[in-house]
Amino acid sequence: MSEPTTPTGKMTSQQMIEDCQRYSLYSWSATGKVSPLPVERAEGVYLYTPDGQRVLDFNSQLMSVNIGHSHPKVVKAMQDAATGLIFAYPGAATEVRARLSKRLAELTPGHLNTFFYTLGGAEANESAIKAVRLYSGRQKILSRYRSYHGGTNATLQLTGDNRRWANEPGMPGVIRVMDPRPYRFKFGETDEEIVENNLTYLSEVIDYEGPHTIAAMFIETVTGTNGILPPPKGYLQGLKALLDQHGILLVCDEVMAGWGRTGKRYAFEHGDIVPDVCTMAKGLTSSYVPLGCMAVSDKIADYFRENVFWGGLTYNAHPYCLAVAMAVLDVMEDEDLVGNAARMEGVMRREMDRLAAKHPSVAEGRAIGLFGTLDLCKNSEKQPLCGYGGSHPVMGQLGAFFRREGLFTFLRPSGIMCNPPLSITEEQLCEGFEIIDRGLDLVDAVVEG
Ligand SMILES: Cc1ncc(COP(=O)(O)O)c(C=O)c1O
Repeated sequence: MSEPTTPTGKMTSQQMIEDCQRYSLYSWSATGKVSPLPVERAEGVYLYTPDGQRVLDFNSQLMSVNIGHSHPKVVKAMQDAATGLIFAYPGAATEVRARLSKRLAELTPGHLNTFFYTLGGAEANESAIKAVRLYSGRQKILSRYRSYHGGTNATLQLTGDNRRWANEPGMPGVIRVMDPRPYRFKFGETDEEIVENNLTYLSEVIDYEGPHTIAAMFIETVTGTNGILPPPKGYLQGLKALLDQHGILLVCDEVMAGWGRTGKRYAFEHGDIVPDVCTMAKGLTSSYVPLGCMAVSDKIADYFRENVFWGGLTYNAHPYCLAVAMAVLDVMEDEDLVGNAARMEGVMRREMDRLAAKHPSVAEGRAIGLFGTLDLCKNSEKQPLCGYGGSHPVMGQLGAFFRREGLFTFLRPSGIMCNPPLSITEEQLCEGFEIIDRGLDLVDAVVEG
């Protein structure tokens, strides 16, 4: 029997959902329980279902389609690239590898001038683990609890959040420490106090672990999926100075925060530091094709000019992916999308403040560039809707409401992500917050008292 189709001859939403669930597994989920959004095409900040529903993409899919969907200049560049060199083995020299690497060296601050290309963020972090261990001759690595660094075995051990639990025990040698803004615990009130207390604590951990045994500390420069947490003022500089004292390298994971998301090209630029290693992915190609990258300092690069980098991938420096990155960088520059993210931060904050004043269920809104979240709460003490790792049924209702009303975003156990493409206009941002505004009535109804 032939499949039912839409009036334009395409697969129906129902068929898409059924066959995807039957024949493929969904990540971080029990596949039978997911309710996937059927997407037929996407353009700018909108997704379209086979039934013709227009859905505002308020999360850039996985905080990654930074230039917006189906940009015609990038689509054209992809068509052109497909008529050129599509693949060459990683040991080859290619024009696009030469050009992109030189361009990234110009665009990336300070001593980060050398790049190793992967297919995504986790592979970039895996490569960084290898690089810092080989370079330093030390094995242990510091990371923070409120973090996500990737879904591979080693990067899940760097990850602090509960996606790690089911995959333990994994790679040994990871020491996890509290963030400057942990989930419940408080290091202080002012940024100054928080930084001083957190770094004093970290310094003691380093002493107990033996500084000479620690290769590096991995941080998300701005914590992403664990709550969009920009570092308190002075933290990045203080952290870099502390690590430098002990010869411990700083790796900034900018897979999510990088490439304009925070209103600067790299999030570490907000803190006036340059890390020893920076990893990136997502926004680098705006997810049009898979690409990740590890940037290393001149000192580390010099080391690997003499010593073997014991890491490799079939798709390292894939020419087609690098060509797409070049086209995406052109669009980011031509349309000043990093500038737009910085300008739209004010609109996002204004809308968040409006919702916080109106809805008792909003604890607070946070935004840096177009990297934002609304924290929800269950009472006037602003306690989250559920405990760490838990869930609350109202979030399911909120998700269903957003689906009906044409808003796509990520819901956290007690929060709403607000991470649209960097090309979004003020009007489109307000359109998203208007839907959120109406949805929050559902959450207000479960606020106690
Ligand atoms: C901060 C951070 N690091 C690493 C990763 C892993 O990247 P990928 O999924 O491309 O492997 C992610 C993915 O969301 C991320 O947000």
